[in-house]
Amino acid sequence: MPADMRARLGLTDLPNLVLSASGCAGAGRELAQFIDVARVGAVISKSIMAEPHTGNPAPRLAETPSGLLNSVGLQGPGMDAFLQRDLPWLLSRGARVVVSIAGQTIREFAGLATRLSDTAGVSAIEVNLSCPNAEDAGQPFALDPQRAGSVIAAVRGSARYDIPVFAKLSPDVTDIVAVASACVAAGADGLSLINTLLGMAIDPVTMRPALAGKYGGLSGPAIRPVAVRCVWQVRAAFPDVPIIGSGGVRTGRDALELLLAGASMIAVGTEIIHDPSACSRVLRELEEELAAIGTDRAADVIGQAHGRTPRGLAWRA
Ligand code: FUM
Repeated sequence: MPADMRARLGLTDLPNLVLSASGCAGAGRELAQFIDVARVGAVISKSIMAEPHTGNPAPRLAETPSGLLNSVGLQGPGMDAFLQRDLPWLLSRGARVVVSIAGQTIREFAGLATRLSDTAGVSAIEVNLSCPNAEDAGQPFALDPQRAGSVIAAVRGSARYDIPVFAKLSPDVTDIVAVASACVAAGADGLSLINTLLGMAIDPVTMRPALAGKYGGLSGPAIRPVAVRCVWQVRAAFPDVPIIGSGGVRTGRDALELLLAGASMIAVGTEIIHDPSACSRVLRELEEELAAIGTDRAADVIGQAHGRTPRGLAWRA
């Protein structure tokens, strides 16, 4: 019998709990020549801003040992183009869609949530509070519990009641539980952990920063232990809150580690750049990992590293 890998995102049933993370697969089209997007748990879009955004100057990417620095700067077509072109395409392919939104002001975030609420087919909103590359927005909202909570309150107040709102948090804080608490208190239905860590590389030949934007967000396997720690800490504080765990997931075993730490779903990001079919492969490998430990139900392992079954199972499939 096939393993039960299902998950739930608000009112949407997901066939499996392996999602594509925001930022590495655009709005899903890039994946379609390699995999059936309908078989991904859900596609999380690249963060969408209200207006088209050209992003940062090149070079925007720099490889590091076990990682990737990016300074894309939230390049994107803006909400109108996303709603007219990308969302209908994803839905026509049978994908479940989580729309990541980014803004420079609380008002912009609220406006984006309102737009999405007038639209059918949005399974959840992921509020990107944590992009390290948005120069014009100043410090990411996620670095300050009070500012993060203000954005979430505005989004939750603007989004249709049946669309779950997930707050995407930054690991670049001393106390991620404090930021998570502020978001949950402000009405977040779930949390997405983690975004990239702020990093930098210097080219020894040019003796200049490798990225035009100087700093960038570090992703890839190098940050997985940070993701595991953040998911662990937030799950310990919030036994019942759905968590999308991401950060350096390359294999089914990596996904299992995040589930054991307490993630209720997994998002695969940077690995998609190396292997565009990574979501399908990670799902298959995760099924094999579960079989090896004697279970055929992903929900059974969620949070098990805490040595107890987390209180309340509402977020389980
Ligand atoms: O630069 C970028 O577009 C990155 C966004 C993010 O990490 O949230």
